[in-house]
Amino acid sequence: MSETAKLIFGDKTIEMPVITGSEGEKALDISRLRGDTGLITMDDGYMNTGSCTSNVTFLDGEKGILRYRGYPIEQLAEKATFLEVSYLLIYGELPDKEQFEIFRNNVVRHTMIHEDLKRLYDGFPKDSHPMAILSSMICTLSGYYNDSSDPLNPRHREISMTRLLSKTPTIAAYSHKKSIGQPFVYPRNSLSYVGNFLNMMFSVPAEDYEVDPLVEKALDLLLILHADHEQNCSTSTVRLVGSSRANLYATIASGICALWGPLHGGANQAVIDMLEIIRDEGGDVNKFVQLAKDKNSTFRLMGFGHRVYKNFDPRAVIIKKACDDVLRKMGKQDPLLDIARKLEEAALTDSYFVDRKLYPNVDFYSGIIYRAIGIPTEMFTVMFAMGRMPGWIAQWKEMIENPNTKIGRPRQVFTGAQSRNYVEMGKR
Ligand code: SDX
Repeated sequence: MSETAKLIFGDKTIEMPVITGSEGEKALDISRLRGDTGLITMDDGYMNTGSCTSNVTFLDGEKGILRYRGYPIEQLAEKATFLEVSYLLIYGELPDKEQFEIFRNNVVRHTMIHEDLKRLYDGFPKDSHPMAILSSMICTLSGYYNDSSDPLNPRHREISMTRLLSKTPTIAAYSHKKSIGQPFVYPRNSLSYVGNFLNMMFSVPAEDYEVDPLVEKALDLLLILHADHEQNCSTSTVRLVGSSRANLYATIASGICALWGPLHGGANQAVIDMLEIIRDEGGDVNKFVQLAKDKNSTFRLMGFGHRVYKNFDPRAVIIKKACDDVLRKMGKQDPLLDIARKLEEAALTDSYFVDRKLYPNVDFYSGIIYRAIGIPTEMFTVMFAMGRMPGWIAQWKEMIENPNTKIGRPRQVFTGAQSRNYVEMGKR
């Protein structure tokens, strides 16, 4: 017996179906609301609004649960590789050996970018933010693949998805090389996905470069933890833009732009900027906790709080542990890690944060590891985008392959001027 909910409005009473997800979540299906009552709903920031059903990722914000295609993030973080997780997110199952080899070989074969595309880097000012370069270059890829960008063509979808996974590390590393005036390093397909990225980021023609397995594993872990997160701001952007049947390159570029904001993926860079300010002002974390509570101040504890998690972000728990591990094994100290720990402790014993269920999120500790690896702060959100690439692709694929998908087009409640007549310039 399917559940329903009753709405009484004026002299009308309507019943609306309630749909139940595989984890027991319930949603009011309002698709007939306007037709039956003339009403629409309003929901600032879509806090109570589901935009789709999805099989890709499950979050339970109250319990701090995150699963990709049913697999707990803790298990994937410990046992899988980022490329394996990418396959899982996009195709729905963990690959067997043969499937993985075919997938890996496809990804590896597209790591180079067109030589003309490399020349576009010359047009960017030296200190361009790498997210500006990444979003532009990813969108520009569509100019090189006009013959294989139809989102309704399964073969075009496959090659576009592969090219994005393959070329994002190359484009990202080149934006770093551009910023430091070093020559671009071509991909080396004999290396792992992460090893290839590290080589393109840090090797120089004048010297040999060895990928450090410890660094490779730490970065692979961070990419896994960022790989998908259901209908967050940038993924919802990808679904909305993709629903217009724009090509995948343009669609992903829109997701990259949404991720750039400091309230979203840009927070990992903002956390380090915040910790450096606290360090430079003497390390008094309590002063900044008070500032974050002050309604007259715009200061927020970056890396704290989450729309969905009202418990610990499971990714932050894993990254915090990895910080100790990576720094110890690399024989490195980072005073910012000590400040971050003190800040977390001060905040989580303060009722303002406890009452609002504000815990560290994925961005709070990730920058500590990126710094230890030698990745510049400005590149942190690019790293987030590299990790989120398979998630965006998987969510887009689910949307574009759904025959019931309609173009996304929300309504509004108009609160502006009512009808009025034009007044000649001289009479205004
Ligand atoms: C990501 O959606 C996802 O899944 C995103 C993500 C993913 O993987 O895709 O998880 C990645 O974007 C993580 C979030 C990174 N952003 C930050 O760390 C920026 C700092 N955090 C916030 O600005 C905030 O917590 C958000 C944006 C993350 C969530 O904002 P909401 O859900 O809109 O909540 P809100 O801004 O309405 O805050 C509720 C209350 C407010 O106080 P009151 O009005 O109740 O008095 O909590 C306060 C806020 O002022 N608050 C904070 C705070 N975050 C919320 N106060 C101080 N510091 C903070 N960080």
